[in-house]
Amino acid sequence: MSGLPPHDFDRLVDTISFHPSAVEARLLRDALGRFATGVTVITTAGQERAEGMTANSFSSVSLEPPLVMWCPARSSLRYELFTHARSWSVHILGCEQTEISRRFVRSGPQFDGLAVETTPEGTPVIPGVAARFDCVTHAVHEAGDHSIMVGRVIRVTTGGPNDHPLVFAAGKYGSFQPL
Ligand SMILES: Cc1cc2nc3c(=O)[nH]c(=O)nc-3n(C[C@H](O)[C@H](O)[C@H](O)COP(=O)(O)O)c2cc1C
Repeated sequence: MSGLPPHDFDRLVDTISFHPSAVEARLLRDALGRFATGVTVITTAGQERAEGMTANSFSSVSLEPPLVMWCPARSSLRYELFTHARSWSVHILGCEQTEISRRFVRSGPQFDGLAVETTPEGTPVIPGVAARFDCVTHAVHEAGDHSIMVGRVIRVTTGGPNDHPLVFAAGKYGSFQPL
């Protein structure tokens, strides 16, 4: 992304307003893309092989009990696998890990060349990420063309204090710049 706007930047000049059902889905996606997120890879043990999915719908939900959530799309070939999984792990990627993000967008030889480990619950995990949350499924809620998966965190692993997260905004990868 380019530099920051000047201090006298007037966001109101460019404002557009629309009802989401009246426009192309792209405009809604573009507007939602203004919300910068981190990037995660969610992994679980499939029946035949380990699977992972790149997801930026991750969010923390509750500290007590510790709950997190993310939203798999119904259209995904891996939707059933994830929504029926009893345990899964959320990997928060660091800013140098765009290649890992890209490889988990599709099924295939996702874990090739990665030093994969397995949690006591049998979930395949990728070492060397910014943070990892090992979860057991707490609830699965229907939500339009996605579902909301809520996980209870049973184990947390974090990288060092100076780790820099990978950021996703406006359809692009970037890194975090403190103001
Ligand atoms: C940065 C990024 C974030 C994504 N976030 C999600 C997400 O939160 N939920 C989701 O279902 N798919 C998300 N996707 C798409 C999935 O990674 C995947 O490509 C899609 O579900 C198709 O999967 P399939 O090959 O199983 O059909 C994201 C992709 C990218 C690049």
